[in-house]
Amino acid sequence: MADDDPVPGDVTAALPGPRLARGMLFAVLGSFLLIVPLNVAESAPRTGGAVAPVLSGLASLVVFALLLVHCSPRARRLSVRARTAALVAQAVLTYAPLVCFGARWGGMGGFLAASLLLALPPRLGWSLLAAVSVSVAASSALAGQSLLVIAYMGQSTALVGVVVYGVTRLGEAVTALSASRAEAARLAVSEERLRFARDLHDLLSSSLSAITLKAELAHRLTRSHADRAEAEAQAVAELSRRALADVREVAATYRDLSLADECEAARSILAAAGIESGVALGLDPATIGRRVQTTLAIVLREGVTNVVRHSRARRCDIALTMDGDRVRLQIANDGAAADLVPGPVDGSGLLNLGHRLASVGGVLRTEIAADGRFVLTAAAPS
Ligand SMILES: Nc1ncnc2c1ncn2[C@@H]1O[C@H](COP(=O)(O)OP(=O)(O)O)[C@@H](O)[C@H]1O
Ligand SMILES: [Mg+2]
Repeated sequence: MADDDPVPGDVTAALPGPRLARGMLFAVLGSFLLIVPLNVAESAPRTGGAVAPVLSGLASLVVFALLLVHCSPRARRLSVRARTAALVAQAVLTYAPLVCFGARWGGMGGFLAASLLLALPPRLGWSLLAAVSVSVAASSALAGQSLLVIAYMGQSTALVGVVVYGVTRLGEAVTALSASRAEAARLAVSEERLRFARDLHDLLSSSLSAITLKAELAHRLTRSHADRAEAEAQAVAELSRRALADVREVAATYRDLSLADECEAARSILAAAGIESGVALGLDPATIGRRVQTTLAIVLREGVTNVVRHSRARRCDIALTMDGDRVRLQIANDGAAADLVPGPVDGSGLLNLGHRLASVGGVLRTEIAADGRFVLTAAAPS
């Protein structure tokens, strides 16, 4: 696939964060709703008095608050009773003011339709959206408006209902997606812990149980059968030596990481987080010395975890190259915070990497490249 080709997960990384999505929803609803009292105010000079604009403004504010009951995730944790009360109050505030504000208040119907769609089961919600649209059109007909205006009122009510419903649901999708990204990073860590626990259990549980049994037996035989007790004690010593060797082996497999395996893990973690990845290996990772390879694998692991945790990346490029007699691992991602000062200032991850690299004669560098990408470079003697 060419670099510029869109990939299915690509879209997710471009989405706004949950906070921005909520802010946009708030702004869209507020400005959408403002249109109705402005319409009422616009007709006020003809109908007379400044009371109507003020009253309609206040009523709109209440409708806004009631609408938020159904749009905001927190308010939606309210009891069914409270939410039903909010729906009824909104219905009253949609229809009753028609008497004094006239057909210009009809625009409120769309927001009632949206609340119904958000709060009720889909079939009932969509039916009531149709009913509200028809009722708004009917109120327009009763006000003696032209057929065109009647049709417009019905259609715009349905449209506002669907748009508000859609924007709210999309905002929820953004929040859910952001949570699943964080979950992907958390899962990667807990999977590794599980593997460690499993290996420890498989390796040690049988030898430690055998040691316990034999030690108990030796203890019981000490007086009556000294020769057998001695044999059991020797067996215990042998078992514990083996267990110790097993522990060393398991620790060694965790100390010696494979950079090739880590590249594969990086690819799948990035894919799970909806981040397009490119891995370019300019040399076979297996040819790198054991200590440096393990250090670079740890750099890659932390670097990729950071991409998922700290950036809003769409793409992450990983490159392994030779630079003279040094091997260089570079991780570059877009989507870094605009005001980011790169470096190990507010976290311990990068600081640890720096220490690890120094212990094998290497260096770690983090920078914001000219194209705005966050670039982490680790170089060490191969
Ligand atoms: N790939 C990245 N993209 C954007 N910002 C990053 C990236 N990696 C690190 N950072 C920034 O550098 C800071 C320090 O990272 P790190 O030392 O790993 O901290 P932590 O232990 O919190 O992960 C992060 O809090 C983040 O602001
Ligand atoms: Mg980190």
